[in-house]
Amino acid sequence: MSRELHQEGGAWPSFTLDGEEVPFNPGDTILQAATRVGRYIPHLCWHPDFPAHGSCRLCSVKVNGKPAGACTAKASAGLDVESDTEELNGHRKTLLQMLFVEGNHFCPSCEKSGNCLLQATAYEMGMEGPHFEEFYPSRPVDASHPDILLDLNRCILCELCVRASRDVDGKNVFAIGGHGIRAHLLVNSASGRLADTAMALDDRAAHICPVGVILPKRQGFVTPIGQRRFDAKPVSEQVEGNPS
Ligand code: SF4
Ligand code: FES
Repeated sequence: MSRELHQEGGAWPSFTLDGEEVPFNPGDTILQAATRVGRYIPHLCWHPDFPAHGSCRLCSVKVNGKPAGACTAKASAGLDVESDTEELNGHRKTLLQMLFVEGNHFCPSCEKSGNCLLQATAYEMGMEGPHFEEFYPSRPVDASHPDILLDLNRCILCELCVRASRDVDGKNVFAIGGHGIRAHLLVNSASGRLADTAMALDDRAAHICPVGVILPKRQGFVTPIGQRRFDAKPVSEQVEGNPS
């Protein structure tokens, strides 16, 4: 997305987000416009460098009183958008709790802890426990690649790696297989192993995962716990110009 606000004569068009004016560029979605001016709307599957995917539903807001996805709904002048409400944050907390129990997320032993968008969003929404019974699914760890570890226990199926590998790296290393609760990330090689793909450490897909699935090897704890991105400030205070 354009990170600049473009003025075409006169005042910028704007909508209100939780009662405050948000200017936008023609064609912006609500989430793009809010992000540009540093306003936080929770999201997991959206990234400013990619078209909206619309799958996680964390960005659900109310537009003129009706439910809408902030990452897909277009901004238009005069809209009344509600996001930071008890009702919407309650729905978001439930979605997060479902994501946590559907996978195996053991934050204290995860290298992504402190840099993880799922963890940071859960803190932001006041999630204190899983609430639902854990599924404890059996999911593989693929350590076959010399430079990249793949721990599928933490995958939230945001498809950012699928999009980055296909659209930026031109390699199509990842895909989603199965449906509903059986949906899972696949590696596109005859063996199903990451080592048998063309994936490289400098691929965009190697650095796009918002959680701790795709991790560079030999970099564990280079940044100590307590000094990581979301240790410094909550996700809601790191919006503008900060892509994840
Ligand atoms: Fe998203 Fe990461 Fe899973 Fe890829 S591996 S779908 S980037 S959570
Ligand atoms: Fe809008 Fe995921 S960020 S649905």
